[in-house]
Amino acid sequence: MTAESKFRLGVLGSGKGSNFSALVSGCKTGRVAAEPVIVLSDVEESGILQRARGENIPAQFIPPGKFRTKLDDDAEQRYIEALIQARVDLIALAGFMRILKGEFLRRFEGRIVNIHPSLLPSFPGLEAWKQALDYGVKVTGCTVHYVDAGVDAGPIIGQEAVHVGESDTSETLHAKIQAAEQMLYPKCVNAIARGEVTVAGRRVRWCQ
Ligand code: GRF
Repeated sequence: MTAESKFRLGVLGSGKGSNFSALVSGCKTGRVAAEPVIVLSDVEESGILQRARGENIPAQFIPPGKFRTKLDDDAEQRYIEALIQARVDLIALAGFMRILKGEFLRRFEGRIVNIHPSLLPSFPGLEAWKQALDYGVKVTGCTVHYVDAGVDAGPIIGQEAVHVGESDTSETLHAKIQAAEQMLYPKCVNAIARGEVTVAGRRVRWCQ
């Protein structure tokens, strides 16, 4: 990629946007060879939209429609159109709380990544740090993976381990995992943007 044709990153999120900010700061400092070109959210008042506007990155609230855990067909179409219009090369999910399905996955096949707050395949789903704490594991962490039709199930790009301390609570463990996420996500997105990542079945290889 030349400076004029930067790798174009779209970000989807529903929450406070700390991973988004880590990606933006990576892009600004050159640690991530990409440019965030659009941020979409299903939550109008979300921190991620506010942060994006603060960075002058196009940011749009698109109502999710009538379902609680997924986008309805009209909403899905609006998300797809906004992302196509923004000419995204990669879509990074950063706390997007809706399951993506059929048409969306087909349109952006192999170009959607997610960050999950556990060492997958352990503890997929909601509040993974709490699941890990309740289970009693001594090590947990975070995972960046490609998105497929399963829940937190696509090929794993990178993982970072976090130790569970004796005195950790749900809050302290979550904070430690989030700090690890903010290191891992920019590293993975950079490798993809530089074309250093290849996928063969479930195996993702980093080559430089
Ligand atoms: C992160 O912990 C991520 O693992 C999960 O959602 C959270 C989003 O946090 N998928 P933030 O909005 O990036 O602060």
